[in-house]
Parts: sequence; C-alpha cells; structure tokens
Amino acid sequence: MPPPEATDCGKGGRRDRYAVRLLRAQERDRKWLADRIHEDPLQMLSHITRLLDRATNASLTAADLNDVAREAARLTATVSDHLQALARDLRPSVLDDFGLAPALRALAADLTLRSGVAVRFTVHGDQGRADSDIEATCYRIAQEALQNVERHAEAGQVDVRLTVSVTTVRMVVADDGVGFSPRGRHDVGAGFGLEDMEQRALALGGSVRVRSLRPSGTVLRLSLPRQITVGAIPLYGE
Ligand SMILES: Nc1ncnc2c1ncn2[C@@H]1O[C@H](COP(=O)(O)OP(=O)(O)O)[C@@H](O)[C@H]1O
Ligand SMILES: [Mg+2]
Repeated sequence: MPPPEATDCGKGGRRDRYAVRLLRAQERDRKWLADRIHEDPLQMLSHITRLLDRATNASLTAADLNDVAREAARLTATVSDHLQALARDLRPSVLDDFGLAPALRALAADLTLRSGVAVRFTVHGDQGRADSDIEATCYRIAQEALQNVERHAEAGQVDVRLTVSVTTVRMVVADDGVGFSPRGRHDVGAGFGLEDMEQRALALGGSVRVRSLRPSGTVLRLSLPRQITVGAIPLYGE
C-alpha cells in the first residue's frame, strides 16, 4: 500500500498535511528560542546569582566587593545585549515601524558585519507596505537564506533583490558560493531551514524555489501575494 502522503487525500488531506508541517515548524521555532535562552542569558544569570551570593559574605574586603560588583555589572550588560539581539531576531521593530525594505537592508548589513560577505541589496517596484504577515514571512525567509549563505556557501558576494508590485512581493537571494547538490539538503546533519521556508511560503499562497549548481552558487526565489488571500491554502477551515 502506498504511504499516506502519496495517496490523493483530497482537499482535507492536503490541508491536514500543511497544518502538521506548520505545527512542526512552530515547534522547531520554540526549540530554537528555548535553546537561545538557555545557552547564554540563563547561564549568565546563574553566574550573576553566584556573584551576588559571594557579595553577601561578610569577610570580603571592600576591594573584593568592588570586583564582584564590577563583574556582576558587566554580566548584566551582556545579558541585556543578548536579550536585545534575541528580540530583534524574533521580530525587529524596524519591520513594524519602517517596513520590509529597511528591515532587509539592516539584515544584510548585519551579515556583512558578522561574516565579511558583501551584500548588494536593491529594491524595485513601489515602496508601499504589504500585509504584515507577508512582510514578516519574507523577513524570516531572508533570515534563513542569509544564514545559509553564511554557514554553507563560502560566498564572496550575495545579491538580495526585493520587488514589490501591486499584487506580489518577490525576493531573490543569489550567492556566488559553492552551491549544493539536490541531495545535499538532506545530508546527515542538515537542518530544516529550506523546508521551513517552503512551508511558510506555501501557507500564505506563495512559493520558494531554490536552484543550486555546483560550483556556481545558489539562487533562492520567493514569491508571496502582497495581501493575504483568505482561502489560498485552506489551513484551518474552508
Ligand atoms: N546557500 C547555500 N550554499 C550552499 N549550501 C547550502 C545553501 N543553502 C543550503 N545549503 C545546503 O542545504 C542544506 C540544508 O539547508 P537547511 O535546510 O537550511 O538546513 P541547515 O542550514 O540547518 O543545514 C545545508 O546543510 C547545506 O548543505
Ligand atoms: Mg539553514
């Protein structure tokens, strides 16, 4: 008997599959968030707690106390930086306040700062806003695509092109890196970034196409409707 995914499940079956995949993607997001909170901020906070415990020790000299206070202040500032970066990764305020193009420009600048990869960012079409869920999804997909460039591509340059038309938001992310074979995305240790991008786009009635050629780089093309068309993919009801 063919596996359930290969059978024609009709509209309901397709809807259930999307819902399950989106649910998995959400769980992966939660795990990512939990790991980021555990990794640095929580560890630093427990370090600060230990330092403050030490500070209550009556036999400490004024100089020791000063050192402890200084170290606690340094760690507190670092925790605050980490949480700020985390909040920005989750939902940068520039996205809500100024829109997609400035948010993508900032993301591109961050990549260059972190990794030295040159990013050319261009905007075409009109400068108006798209639906906020569409902008957020485009931003998430750009985040993952640029993270892939940083982690896997060994690229010298990446082009990010955003085109907003009356009906559609399009984004192309093209790097000049090492590329990967179609099987490469399923290598042991490979994650779910590409799959998540596809599911996010599909859920809003859009699509993601990734074309990669060894050794001439990778091109990702995203297309999303500018406004959410209710019922494009009936997720939770007809
Ligand atoms: N821009 C890229 N350049 C080279 N290889 C890439 C690129 N994007 C993705 N890949 C390959 O595809 C695999 C799957 O990517 P992804 O689904 O985002 O998971 P992850 O990044 O967590 O490994 C990567 O491990 C890598 O081998
Ligand atoms: Mg990835």
